[in-house]
Amino acid sequence: MYVLGIETSCDETGVAIYHSEKGLISDVLYSQVAMHSEYGGVVPELASRDHIRRVIPLIKQCLAHGHLSTSDINGIAYTAGPGLMGALLVGATTARSLAWTWQVPAIAVHHMEGHLLAPMLEENPPAFPFVALLISGGHTLLVRVDGIGQYHTLGESLDDAAGEAFDKTAKMLDLGYPGGPKVSALAELGQPRFVFPRPMTDRPGLDFSFSGLKTFTLNTFHNSDKTEQDKADIAFAFQTAVSETLTIKCRRALQQTGLKRLVIAGGVSANKQIRAALLDMTAKEQATVHFPRLKFCTDNGAMIAYAGCQRLLAGQHESLEIFAKPRWALEQLSPI
Ligand code: KG4
Ligand code: ZN
Repeated sequence: MYVLGIETSCDETGVAIYHSEKGLISDVLYSQVAMHSEYGGVVPELASRDHIRRVIPLIKQCLAHGHLSTSDINGIAYTAGPGLMGALLVGATTARSLAWTWQVPAIAVHHMEGHLLAPMLEENPPAFPFVALLISGGHTLLVRVDGIGQYHTLGESLDDAAGEAFDKTAKMLDLGYPGGPKVSALAELGQPRFVFPRPMTDRPGLDFSFSGLKTFTLNTFHNSDKTEQDKADIAFAFQTAVSETLTIKCRRALQQTGLKRLVIAGGVSANKQIRAALLDMTAKEQATVHFPRLKFCTDNGAMIAYAGCQRLLAGQHESLEIFAKPRWALEQLSPI
């Protein structure tokens, strides 16, 4: 079964084709980063308009890369939420219209389920059950995963998401957008001079909070001379605090569930220091850790095509109605 996947939830138009037996056939992406960077962040209306411009040419390009024609496609998967309403509607309308025209089923995919299953596209996919740490621009979630659609939230951020904290720190340090990669690059030049708090690690539980860390970062910056080295040292201290906080919570989640497999996904999982810290921790816990390849950590069409394919294979799909869900809890998904 060939499944076309369409991702348009935020600032990346991602399109991919996944085959149920042959695996990933092709994937293409257009990032709107250059357009939004002028404004210091994502402008929703511009994002929607740009998705409209890109999505059809990308679908054509994706089919051409895979040496496929439209009649080869057996199903369509699209991100229906969570995300920006206008942006989501572009993907939903495109997917539903093509599915109707081509007379194939279409399935609405939860963006975070896409992230969570992205490591399944790698050579050594994790077996169920496992613990997943989902760290993106809008979410920080620790989830027990017993199968596709069988999600139990163990902990989540009570305020800012991890990616949001990176983005806000980048703004404070005047690094621009997108924040995560910029903070991370600057942190490599930093020295271990400051020690920042590891929020909510001194009490039991698996929830996160990053807004206090953000304020601490801001105050440290204001009280510094604001030199380039100060900025680098602050970026390093911030990144180390996030990395250690995530590591402590993941270790606790593995110990609490008794599971020995950890999956890390979402944009922040591209961070080198965080990947290294979690590799180190899981080795000590005699557990394994599974990451998506770097380009599938951030938004992409491949993860949506994969997740949709699994659900279509199980016979799931929706009626012709076009809908998008800007807010959508992972736990509301049905198992397959
Ligand atoms: O998953 P994603 O592409 O989009 C959402 O679903 O939100 O995640 C984007 C987030 C942004 O906050 C971005 O700053 C962060 O991931 N990010 C990173 C890195 N690359 C992207 N954060 C830290 N280090 C990185 N290397
Ligand atoms: Zn995402």
